[in-house]
Amino acid sequence: MRPPTPINSMVRAWLLCVALLSTSVLTLSRPDLKPSPAIAADRNDITTLRSRAENPSLLRIMPLGASITNGYRSTGHNGYRNYIRQQLRYKGWDVEMVGSLRNGTMIDNFNEGHFGFRVDQLSKEAVKSTPQQPNVILINAGTDDALQNHKVGTTGVRMNSLLDLLFEKVPHTTIILSTLLPNKDKPELVGWISDQYRALAAKRRKSGDRVVLADMSSFIPLDELADATHPTDAGYKRMASVWWAAIEDAFQEDMIQHYNYTITAKLEKSLDNSTSNPNLPSYTAPAQPTNTNNAFSHSPQAVLPTVIVQLLGVLAFL
Ligand SMILES: *[C@@H]1O[C@H](CO)[C@@H](O)[C@H](O)[C@H]1NC(C)=O
Ligand SMILES: *[C@@H]1O[C@H](CO)[C@@H](O)[C@H](O)[C@H]1NC(C)=O
Ligand SMILES: *[C@@H]1O[C@H](CO)[C@@H](O)[C@H](O)[C@H]1NC(C)=O
Repeated sequence: MRPPTPINSMVRAWLLCVALLSTSVLTLSRPDLKPSPAIAADRNDITTLRSRAENPSLLRIMPLGASITNGYRSTGHNGYRNYIRQQLRYKGWDVEMVGSLRNGTMIDNFNEGHFGFRVDQLSKEAVKSTPQQPNVILINAGTDDALQNHKVGTTGVRMNSLLDLLFEKVPHTTIILSTLLPNKDKPELVGWISDQYRALAAKRRKSGDRVVLADMSSFIPLDELADATHPTDAGYKRMASVWWAAIEDAFQEDMIQHYNYTITAKLEKSLDNSTSNPNLPSYTAPAQPTNTNNAFSHSPQAVLPTVIVQLLGVLAFL
């Protein structure tokens, strides 16, 4: 092999420097999440809700998000909501959906799924339903941040603020946070946001918050999207599988706090008389994230040694 000429070396070293600088800048510009010790401390102060042992059956669920939550493109406009409700009924739970909107042919069709809404726009919608004290909140939001290319590097920070608000309004609730579905228009951006949510869920869980990640990004295939963004019925059914796995997870971790009442059989019948098996596709959930060791959670202090090592590498190369 021909030894490199001085010019070659210089060009290569320069290219390496440029590459290093750009990755460092990118990493440095991703802010860290702020912790929420108050919420963790409050975790065992159960005043309005009772433990599972005392009353094992009612789930009051708030589906929170945008058009996917609303059910756009699905038959009957029920989206994942009817599938997950049916699954929970089949497994013996009483269910009440809560939300300020009613969409879809299902009877219990309450939801907070707001078309085109970004994460920062959902707070004022969510508080319309928090007085109903949902004990489970399903969040699928952030796709519109990607589609609008709205400060995507900090979507996780805004989601963290939304979680702060929800825990402030409903201290004993369990939040199921989904990663984003694949997207044909902005595949990289939804992937970046999902990474931030994984780090956020890890951080929240570490500080003792009732948060479970529903990782749906790779379970819904591109051919189960009806357009660039919204699932087909089959895709919505897959979403329900992932929600179900996450709710089971929350249940097994003894997170879900229950009401000191069950809804009457008559009310349940008026909401949905079916307890048949919706036959959700089988899904094996990955382990819940437990560390924040990824790009989003790198603090500048942690990045610096890496940069120094890389620079030493460059010097050695020269
Ligand atoms: C959803 O329901 C609300 C009222 O509950 C209505 O204003 C809105 O137009 C509905 N959205 C769709 C897409 O049907
Ligand atoms: C449930 O609440 C009622 C009052 O609404 C109370 O009498 C009862 O003891 C409570 N049950 C439990 C198990 O806390
Ligand atoms: C549920 O209600 C629908 C109509 O409201 C009725 O056609 C159906 O037979 C009922 N199913 C059961 C299991 O009661």
